[in-house]
This record gives sequence, structure tokens and C-alpha cells, in this order.
Amino acid sequence: MTKYFFEKATILIVDDNQNNLKVLCDAIADSGWEILVALDGESAVEQAVYAQPNLILLDVMMSGIDGFETCEKLKSNSETREIPIIFMTALSDTIDKVKGLSIGGVDYVTKPFHTEEVLARINVHLKLYSLTKQLEEQKIELEQHVAERTKELTQALKDLKQSQLQLVQSEKMSTLGQLVASVAHEINNPVGFITGNLSHLTEYTSKLINHLQMYRKFYTEPHEEIDQNAQKIYLDDLMRETPEIISSMEVGIDRIFNISTSLKNFSRSDTSSKIEFDIHEGINSTLMILKHRLKANKKHSPIEIIKKYGNLPLVSCYPGQINQVFMNIIANAIDALEDVETNQKKHHNLNITISTTVERDRNCVKILIQDNGLGMDAETKEKIFEQFFTTKLVGKGTGLGLSISRHIVEEKHQGKIYCISSLGEGTKFVVEIPINTL
Ligand SMILES: Nc1ncnc2c1ncn2[C@@H]1O[C@H](COP(=O)(O)OP(=O)(O)OP(=O)(O)O)[C@@H](O)[C@H]1O
Ligand SMILES: [Mg+2]
Repeated sequence: MTKYFFEKATILIVDDNQNNLKVLCDAIADSGWEILVALDGESAVEQAVYAQPNLILLDVMMSGIDGFETCEKLKSNSETREIPIIFMTALSDTIDKVKGLSIGGVDYVTKPFHTEEVLARINVHLKLYSLTKQLEEQKIELEQHVAERTKELTQALKDLKQSQLQLVQSEKMSTLGQLVASVAHEINNPVGFITGNLSHLTEYTSKLINHLQMYRKFYTEPHEEIDQNAQKIYLDDLMRETPEIISSMEVGIDRIFNISTSLKNFSRSDTSSKIEFDIHEGINSTLMILKHRLKANKKHSPIEIIKKYGNLPLVSCYPGQINQVFMNIIANAIDALEDVETNQKKHHNLNITISTTVERDRNCVKILIQDNGLGMDAETKEKIFEQFFTTKLVGKGTGLGLSISRHIVEEKHQGKIYCISSLGEGTKFVVEIPINTL
């Protein structure tokens, strides 16, 4: 017995001649296929819709609507369009076989039937139909797969771009940091040399002056030439001012020393693990670096820094990165304050308030950086942490500062950064950093 493909297949036979139906049914009874019959075209269409057969054997010459018309109806209905149709014709019929194929039929069988041939043809078309269906399903599956992969790849590309940017930025920061640290280090040598010698100079000068004063005390009538020279060089002024000059040099050198210490602190090259860090030291060295932008200039009046520091414990963090966050927030605040006077009349009281508190119950320190600039509208506020979002002129802002800051605070330190601001009300940034993390 021939093994038929698709043993569970359903076949609809459509013929208005009961005899023909019987012959056909007998012929394929052993095949294992389920057989449905219809006696006219109209009921065949109806049956095909609800029974969804796998194949239709359709007589061409029928009373009522003929096979071709029935075929056209089946093909115009989306629910039955795909079902393969094999036409049945009598040898004596003079019909246009090409027409049948062109309207969607797949084959012909001829009456009287040659059983083996009919079975073979049905089998071939069932197989074709099933394979076509499988192919379509695979195509849909493949398309879905491609769409999913494309989505994944797009996301991966986005992530890659983001981490590339962060790499570039942190690479820049660390190169800059190394440069600053080495410059600061180089400055410290001559500063140390000057500081050391200045203390000798103070001592020697005071000894020299004392000595001169002794001369004056015991030789009250100096030689005329000495007296003239003393007047010419303003000896009294020299003796009074020299120690003052030296002490102002001491103040100056002290300031240079402070600056270089701040630079070194700011650019602390990051260790691969977190270290205990004094947050106030970080803020102070950041402010020192930004000092030149706080002074009054053509664009704005001076910016006052109001510090309200609490009593903070050391915080386990990457100092270089945390300083970078302070730098971004304070630089933005200065930008915002500059805008106040560009947009409005001069002489505002511009200030930035920096407060720090410790929240023991939540095991974190909280740093608030508030400016009294113009603030921002709700729409801007929504987007400020997005990469490349900037309201600044081309070349002035890249729109990276806050997105990098958020990455540093939230991803690298499991902290929180958020902003409270509304138009005309200034802006407050809040940074929370856990005190103890690994
Ligand atoms: N203190 C602030 N007051 C008002 N607007 C602010 C303030 N801080 C940030 N913004 C807004 O958030 C935007 C994004 O800030 P962000 O630091 O990410 O980028 P940027 O300063 O524009 O560029 P850069 O990459 O140079 O930092 C700013 O363009 C500005 O519109
Ligand atoms: Mg910025």
C-alpha cells in the first residue's frame, strides 16, 4: 500500500453527479484522508470556509455555478484562497484547460478516473501545499527573528556609542588629570625652594637691618658720602618696606602652594578600587579650579559661593569621578548665572550655595548645589540627563556633562542625582552618595 503524505488531510470533493462522487470516494477511501463532499459550487464555497480542507477536487461542468466560477469565488476569499484546487473533467468535455490554471487551479484529473493517477496527483499537491505553508511560516518566523535581532543590535550599538563616549570623556579626564597632577607636582619643587629660602631671607634681612640700626646708633655722624647715599636710596623706606615685601611674598607663595595642592587633590588619579575620601576637600579643590570663572568680568558681576558644610564622614568612592560630577554641576551653575545678566540688567546678587548633610539612617551623604539663576522649564528639566541634550550654543555645550554625572553617581556609586528647578526660581541639584560601598 502506498504511504500517503498527510494522512490526516481533509479533501473536499465537489461534483453534482452522485455517481462520480461515489466512484471517487471509493477510489480514495483507503488513503486515510478525511473526505467531505459538496453537490454544487455555492455549498462548496461555504464548506470550504468552515472546514478548511487541505485540497479541493472540483468538477468543471456543474449545474448552477460551474467549476471555474466556484474556483474564482474560492480564490477571492482570503480564508480559502490558499487551498489547492484540482479540476475534474470528462475526456469528452471541450473546455479551456489553460483558463482553469490561470484562475488558480493547480492541476486536472480526467474522468473516467485512473485511481493511481488521482491519488498520486492529490498526494503531490498536498505535499506542495504543506511545504508552501511551512515555508511561509518559516519566512514569518525568520522575519520576526531578524526584527528582534535588529532591535537588539540597534540597542547594542546605542550602548556601545554611550560607553565609547564615556571612555573618551574619562580618558580625557584622566589624561588631563595626569597632566594637572604632574604640573602641580613640578610647581611644588620651586615653591618649596622659595618657601625655604624666604624664611632665611626674613631672618637675614632682619639681621642686616638691625646691624644698620646699630651703626646709626653708635655712629651718629656718618661720612657725608654715606649720608648722601642713604638719602638717595631712601634707606629709611627700604628698611621699613623690605620686611613687608618679604611677608607679602610669603602670602603669595602660600597661595601658590594651596593652588597646587588643590590641583593635586582634584586630579587624584583614580585607583581601581574605591577609597575613603573627604567630600569637602573635593568640592573645595573644584571651586579652586573654577575660581577664575567666579570673579567679576565683562559678562557678569562676581559670583558668591556660600558654603554650608555639615559634619561629613569620609565617603568610600572614586574621588576623581566624584570631583568630575561637582565640576559639571558647578560649571553649569556658573553658565546659568552668566545667562542671568546676559538676559537681564546687570548687578544681580549672583550666588551658588553648597550645602552638605549626612543622612545616617540612609547611610548616605547629601550634597546640594543651588544657584539663583533663571532655572529651567519643565520640558528642559525632563531632558537634562539625556546624552547630547544641551540648550547652549554650538561649541559651548556638548550636552554630556549631566549624562556622565548621572552615570558616575548612579552606576558607579549606586547613589542618586536629581534636579529641582522651575523657570525663574533657580536650580538645585541634589547628589546622594552612599557612605560605605565596595
Ligand atoms: N544650573 C542650571 N540652570 C539652568 N539650566 C541648567 C543647569 N544645569 C543644567 N542645565 C541645563 O541642562 C542642560 C544639559 O546640561 P549638561 O551639563 O548635560 O550639558 P551642557 O552643559 O549643555 O554641555 P556640557 O557637555 O559642556 O556640560 C544644559 O544645556 C542646560 O540647559
Ligand atoms: Mg554642562
